Amino acid sequence: MKTYLVTGGAGFIGSNYIHYMFKKYGENIRIINVDKLTYAGNLENLKEVADRENYTFIKADICDSEAIFKIFEENEIDRVVHFAAESHVDRSIKDPDVFVKTNVLGTLVMLNAAKAAWELPDDTFKKDKNFLHVSTDEVYGSLENEGEYFYETTPYDPHSPYSASKAASDFLVKSYMDTYRFPANITNCSNNYGPYQFPEKLIPLIINNALQGKKLPVYGDGKNVRDWLYVEDHAKGIDMVQEKGRLFETYNIGGHNEKENIKIIHIILDTLQEMLPEGDPRKELVSETLITYVEDRKGHDRRYAIAPDKIKEEVGWYPETMFEDGIKLTIRWFFENEDWLQRVTSGDYQNYYEDMYQTR
Ligand code: NAD
Ligand code: DAU
Repeated sequence: MKTYLVTGGAGFIGSNYIHYMFKKYGENIRIINVDKLTYAGNLENLKEVADRENYTFIKADICDSEAIFKIFEENEIDRVVHFAAESHVDRSIKDPDVFVKTNVLGTLVMLNAAKAAWELPDDTFKKDKNFLHVSTDEVYGSLENEGEYFYETTPYDPHSPYSASKAASDFLVKSYMDTYRFPANITNCSNNYGPYQFPEKLIPLIINNALQGKKLPVYGDGKNVRDWLYVEDHAKGIDMVQEKGRLFETYNIGGHNEKENIKIIHIILDTLQEMLPEGDPRKELVSETLITYVEDRKGHDRRYAIAPDKIKEEVGWYPETMFEDGIKLTIRWFFENEDWLQRVTSGDYQNYYEDMYQTR
């Protein structure tokens, strides 16, 4: 039985990944989830798996080498899936320091701990070990023209403190592969959406605001393009890369689903109208008149688009969930989990929201 060490498993993608893995492998794997539980980490996301015998949660900071080394000393880890990071671009523009600390130094701690546990006296590594570093397409910078795509060979050109910190972490992983032949892979994925996404990100923020009749803030001209992928497809891609990918390779994971932000907002409004039952008071609130153009994000990347050709050819992965279906699944999840949304948007979220949007 393989033991997985998942970092950041209480966040959006990490929790979806853990659900996916237990659905797929049941009792045949063991998962240890290490998470610091920042504002973005929420154990409620994992309440259905919390009592499983083959699941363990450890509250720890990935920058704390003593805690991380101890986990490797006490457990024979076979797979690391490294999600833990500060993930929101707007926050990185306001406060870059924590991004460098967690994303760069935290990744270094994870690499050192896995290397120490897996390295043999002859400088080779134990068989069948893998460290998968979960990264982003934002490291490639911004595409200006339609028809252009990010490939694994596209030079890095990060613009935000967030993407710069992820690029630095990718380079650390690459350096460990090149220098030590450390057994790892890197995946660079496009924008995810789906259940459990924190409503600071575009899609859940628009769903949440629209249902309350609050303004829908569109940065700049609304024509920036993102390539949206349903989160379960990402989880599947990560698992397939670890099981079928070539060691030391980078794989881009993307939805082939590029859309302007303003188009996404219109789709959400139309889908909410379609899904809300007649007589529901929220139906009156959901309206295009809420759309409000606000000051642009500083250094706002214009367009992201992934060509997932390599992962399709080598690993057999492709994006399965059509956006029309994924957005309905997401909205249904938010309808069914109103209390989750209320809890995560109370307290600190209000302060964040006022601070981030008061000048916009
Ligand atoms: P998230 O912000 O929802 O979750 C991050 C998780 O990491 C949280 O549970 C948080 O508590 C934990 N964490 C943060 N700092 C930590 C620390 N110092 N020690 C331990 N745990 C810590 O993020 P997400 O959207 O789920 O993204 C997960 C990963 O995927 C990140 O590495 C991100 O760069 C990458 N990624 C995200 C997207 C996306 O669209 N969201 C796309 C591509 C790649
Ligand atoms: O591309 C992958 C990346 O996608 C991940 O690495 C990041 O962790 C993740 O946060 C996401 O980054 P983006 O900046 O693309 O996502 P966000 O949801 O913040 O914004 C999506 C687009 O919507 C972007 O062009 C900015 C715009 N936007 C966002 C918000 C929050 C708005 O117009 N209004 C908003 O209020």
